Amino acid sequence: MYPISRHSQRLHLRELRPDDAEGVFAIYGDPRATEHLSFDPRTRADVESIVARSIASAALDPRQEYALAVTETGDGRLIGVGRLALDPHQTRAATFGFALRPDVWGHGYGTETVRLLLASAFEDLALHRVWGARSPHNAASARTMDRAGLTEEGYIREHIQRGGQWRDSVTHSILDHEYTATSPSRT
Ligand SMILES: CC(C)(COP(=O)(O)OP(=O)(O)OC[C@H]1O[C@@H](n2cnc3c(N)ncnc32)[C@H](O)[C@@H]1OP(=O)(O)O)[C@@H](O)C(=O)NCCC(=O)NCCS
Repeated sequence: MYPISRHSQRLHLRELRPDDAEGVFAIYGDPRATEHLSFDPRTRADVESIVARSIASAALDPRQEYALAVTETGDGRLIGVGRLALDPHQTRAATFGFALRPDVWGHGYGTETVRLLLASAFEDLALHRVWGARSPHNAASARTMDRAGLTEEGYIREHIQRGGQWRDSVTHSILDHEYTATSPSRT
């Protein structure tokens, strides 16, 4: 499906554009934002090519990757990124991820972002299962996914390699009927 465009009260989830690289770099280049992620802070050049690759992947048919911008409704500033990646080996399933610029943390935007991604996953893409993996130390992510209605499932051992070390992940998931039962407003 193209394009994805979903609004919540304060945020807009939309397709990435080439001029988003600077806004994405303010997240992926910041060690606070990547502390619990699977990769070290990115360089500006890394981010340019990630954004270009993501835009190109949006044109593929079938489309399997939805790398999306999260912007503030008022001024359109990019404050976050979200991603849904369809799993070709599972029926109607995707993994998802999200990250916000550190200066906007703590105002409910994380929960709002996850809800927008779930709305897109279940209402636009008609998926059955969406799941995410977080670092066991990422309390903010755990609470955010909990607030958005996901259920903690358990550990995957030595799932991520970063800095030469293996790291476990904790997975959280939500199913379509759970989303339908709990989604208050159908964003
Ligand atoms: C995870 C992240 C998106 C949360 O964004 P946010 O806008 O601060 O989240 P919200 O304001 O919606 O808060 C959601 C819940 O998490 C809690 N929370 C936020 N930061 C927290 C922290 N550091 N420790 C514990 N709980 C935290 C909030 O208190 C809130 O719970 P409450 O309603 O019970 O009070 C943000 O911290 C981030 O971008 N982190 C870096 C990237 C990342 O880790 N992404 C997740 C990958 S799995």
